[in-house]
Amino acid sequence: MNRTVYLNGEWLAETEAKVSVFDRGFLFADAIYEVTAVIDGKLIDYPGHAARLRRSLDALGIAMPVEDAELLTLHKEIAKRNGITEGLIYLQVSRGVQDRDFLFPETMTPSFVMFTQAKRVLDNPKWKTGLSLQTVPEGRWSERQIKTVQLLYSSVQKTQAHRNGFDDVLFVENGFITEASSANFHIVTAEGELITRDLSNALLHGITRGSIVDLARQAGVVAHERAFTVEEAKSANEAFLTSATSFVTPVVSLDGQAIGTGKVGPVSQRLLEIYIREQLSRALPIAD
Ligand code: PDD
Repeated sequence: MNRTVYLNGEWLAETEAKVSVFDRGFLFADAIYEVTAVIDGKLIDYPGHAARLRRSLDALGIAMPVEDAELLTLHKEIAKRNGITEGLIYLQVSRGVQDRDFLFPETMTPSFVMFTQAKRVLDNPKWKTGLSLQTVPEGRWSERQIKTVQLLYSSVQKTQAHRNGFDDVLFVENGFITEASSANFHIVTAEGELITRDLSNALLHGITRGSIVDLARQAGVVAHERAFTVEEAKSANEAFLTSATSFVTPVVSLDGQAIGTGKVGPVSQRLLEIYIREQLSRALPIAD
């Protein structure tokens, strides 16, 4: 195949069209797409697709990359350039290119890609035979133990919270805390016991979480792995996040309410020190 694709204002051979590895569509699934069918050299249901594109972009605060009239011209042009009379036109708009960060600025230059696929849309054998389907649980996306790059919701929520003056968000499901946007969440009770959510598909199985639970137990801290509510967290003595890049980071307030003294607590402080000391002692050297 040697299609001509459209990328950020340029017509390019498909082999020459390259998107940055730092594109937020690639790193955070922070992108919108549309697919429009072409039959007999005509765009099918085009106004609906153009309107939904705008609605989707508006909902995420991504700028429309071109004016409405230009978008229609591009659809016609790409079909002509690729000799498509039957098939589809795919377009994707991502928030743009930025060093990897869950937080994104208010204005970014979107990345805009269009390509065609030749396909015999009107020659569909299933129109005669019909389809057989299987039911599966609705779970888009409830498999949070898998470390996918489907990070759009987390990134948007964290950015919104940041604009509201918070450092991060804590996700709550049926009254129980799951985790933060990109870290696991833990509390310390008045008795000095550690409580962390038990492992399931509700949260990412953090590597740092696992190490901290082990190290805490070795240090004589009683650790429970179970679900806990927002109320329990708000009345805890201490709370902290864990992740590969933040290690053990104290949390001092939730929804504007102080946790414990509202200051960094001794158990969090001690676990951070133990984690850094222990992990440094067993860390793998980069040089041979
Ligand atoms: N995030 N939960 C979520 C949703 C995460 O994205 C992460 C890590 C964690 C902590 O896992 P670990 O201890 O294995 O890093 C929990 C990384 C740091 C990130 O996205 O930058």
